[in-house]
Amino acid sequence: VREIKVRAEREYTVKVDCSWQTQLAQILVDRKRAAVIVSESMRERLPDFDNLNPEVAIFAIPDGEAGKSQATLLQLWNWLGAAGFTKSDLLIGIGGGAVTDITGYVAASWLRGIDWLAIPTTVAGAVDAAIGGKTAINSEYGKNLIGAFHSPISVFIDFQWFETLSDRDFAAGLAEVVKTGFIADGEILKKVIGLPIAQIRGDRELVIDLVERTIAVKAEVVSEDFKESFHREILNYGHTLGHAVELDTNFELRHGECVSIGMAFMARLQEDLGLINSDLAQLHFDILQGLGLPTVYKRTAWPKILGHMKLDKKSRSGALRFVTIRGVGEVDRLESPDEELLFRAYEKVSK
Ligand SMILES: NC(=O)c1ccc[n+]([C@@H]2O[C@H](COP(=O)([O-])OP(=O)(O)OC[C@H]3O[C@@H](n4cnc5c(N)ncnc54)[C@H](O)[C@@H]3O)[C@@H](O)[C@H]2O)c1
Repeated sequence: VREIKVRAEREYTVKVDCSWQTQLAQILVDRKRAAVIVSESMRERLPDFDNLNPEVAIFAIPDGEAGKSQATLLQLWNWLGAAGFTKSDLLIGIGGGAVTDITGYVAASWLRGIDWLAIPTTVAGAVDAAIGGKTAINSEYGKNLIGAFHSPISVFIDFQWFETLSDRDFAAGLAEVVKTGFIADGEILKKVIGLPIAQIRGDRELVIDLVERTIAVKAEVVSEDFKESFHREILNYGHTLGHAVELDTNFELRHGECVSIGMAFMARLQEDLGLINSDLAQLHFDILQGLGLPTVYKRTAWPKILGHMKLDKKSRSGALRFVTIRGVGEVDRLESPDEELLFRAYEKVSK
C-alpha cells in the first residue's frame, strides 16, 4: 500500500493499491453505524458485509449522472433521517466519480457535515473525482451546480475494480493522467507514449505508477490552494473547450474524451500562437490518439462551443481564459484571445 497525503480543509490519506475490504474493516472498528452508497449496476459486486462490525447498510442509486440528482439526494436524506444517522456515523461511496460526488455532498449536508470515505472504482474516479474535496450534484440548469467542499476521511484505491472497466472508460480516465503529464509530470508522457491501451492495462506496475503520479500532482496542487483559485486552475488544462464539448454532446462522450479534444485544441492553439513548437503540439496527438482517445469534433458545433465557453466565463465573472503550457510542466494562462484565432485552431481539430 502506498500512501499520499492531501491537505485540504482536513488532512487525509489516499491509499493506493490497497485491499478496500481490509481497509474498510479497519476503519469501521470505531463506528456505530455505516452505510454504503453504490450505483445499481455495481450493487451486485459488493459482498454482503456480514462479517463486519458495525453492520453496513447499502443504498443503491441510479448509474452515472442520473444518480447525481436532487431526487436521489432527497431520498438519501430521508433515509439517513429514518435510520437516525448521527455525527459519528460513516458514509461510504463505492463507485465512479458520480457516486463519490453525491456521497460527498450528502455527507457535507447531513448534520452540516459527517465523515465519508471514497472508494473509487473507475480510473477517472481514482485520479480525479475522489481527490480534492469537491462534492456535487447536478441541477436542471447544469452539471455540478449544487455542491460543497467536503473532503473524505480517506480514499481507498483498489485496482481490482478496474478489471471490469471497458477500454473506452479506462482510456477516458487516462485523459486526466495525460493532462497531468503535460502540466506537471513529463515522466507520465514518456511512460504512456507508444503504448496501446491493452498494454497499459496489462502492466499492473505501470497503472499503479500512473495513478500514483497523477494523484500526487493533484494532491500537491490542492494542498497548496484548496479552494478554487489561480493555482488550482492549472488542473483545467484542456477543460475550457472540453467542458463546452461535453455540454454540446449532451454527455454522449465521456468527460475524459471531451478533455482529450480540449487538449488537442490547445495543442493547435498554442502552436498557432508560438507558445509551443510543433513537436510538442504533435506529442499531444500521438499520445491521445495512441490511447484511442478522440482529437476531433464537429466543425458545425463551433458557435455553440464558443457560446458555452463564454457562458462558463460569465459564471466566473472573468475573461475567457485558457490554461496553457510553454513546455511540459510549465503552465501559464491565456486571457481573452481573439475569437478568429480560436476558430482557426478549432478548424484543425474539427471536420
Ligand atoms: N469532484 C471532482 O473533483 C470531480 C472531478 C472529476 C469528475 N467528477 C465527476 O465524476 C463523474 C464522472 O466519473 P466517472 O467517469 O467515474 O463516471 P461514472 O461515475 O458516471 O461511472 C461511469 C459508469 O461506470 C460504471 N462503473 C463504475 N465502476 C465500474 C467498474 N469498476 N467496472 C465497470 N463499470 C463501472 C458506473 O456504474 C457508471 O455506469 C462526473 O459526474 C464528474 O462530474 C468530479
